[in-house]
Amino acid sequence: MGRDVIIACDFNNKEEVVRFLEKFKETKPFVKIGMELFYAQGPDIVRTIKGMGHKIFLDLKLHDIPNTVKKSMSVLAGLDVDMCNVHAAGTKAMMSAAIEGLTRADGTRPLLIAVTQLTSTSEEMMQEELWIERPIDETVLHYASNAKEAGLDGVVCSPLEAGKVHDFCGAGFVTVTPGVRFADGDVGDQKRVTTPAKAREIGSDYIVVGRPITQADDPVEAYNRCVAEFVG
Ligand code: C5P
Repeated sequence: MGRDVIIACDFNNKEEVVRFLEKFKETKPFVKIGMELFYAQGPDIVRTIKGMGHKIFLDLKLHDIPNTVKKSMSVLAGLDVDMCNVHAAGTKAMMSAAIEGLTRADGTRPLLIAVTQLTSTSEEMMQEELWIERPIDETVLHYASNAKEAGLDGVVCSPLEAGKVHDFCGAGFVTVTPGVRFADGDVGDQKRVTTPAKAREIGSDYIVVGRPITQADDPVEAYNRCVAEFVG
């Protein structure tokens, strides 16, 4: 599994994303499309960006009964995305169903990764509201191992957790990590951040980088700098 930089394309509409991606003439970066853009623009946004030659991580975080997730995943596999995700809280049965739905007739499928606990959930919230009594770091690793047992390829986690996830679930279990900032850049609303170089050192497989690239004066230069630091 090669390391790669995924650009979080958190734009408001199709025109803005297309205008942004047209700046990339030589390399076609892997892009992440989130719920906001997908719900606003529909599946056509995936076809448009795919048509421009980009790989797509469709970040829709499915969580429903296994049958519904299975059928929804087969729709996403038909859209030819390269990576998508579910909440591990949906159980191993739901995650296995997701894999089934995602697998195309020829046996190929997009990568499927799991969200363990959202980084917006504190340990206190998890314990007091969700009644999960264990410490959050143990819960994250337990959910990651459920995802692995269900046949998923990896998890979304903080780059600072990537090493622990690999120790627990194996080096081949993919870690996809947001919360990346350049050493000399703005942290913004992210709390626990790391640089692309440090993320590489800890062992992230994919870093998801939004504003440090999308808001840069020269996004192509910022992307290339990210790739140079992270992929080498
Ligand atoms: O702009 P920035 O680099 O902070 O963007 C990070 C991207 O990763 C955003 O799309 C954000 O929603 C997503 N993300 C995150 N933290 C998580 C999960 C997803 O920042 N735990």
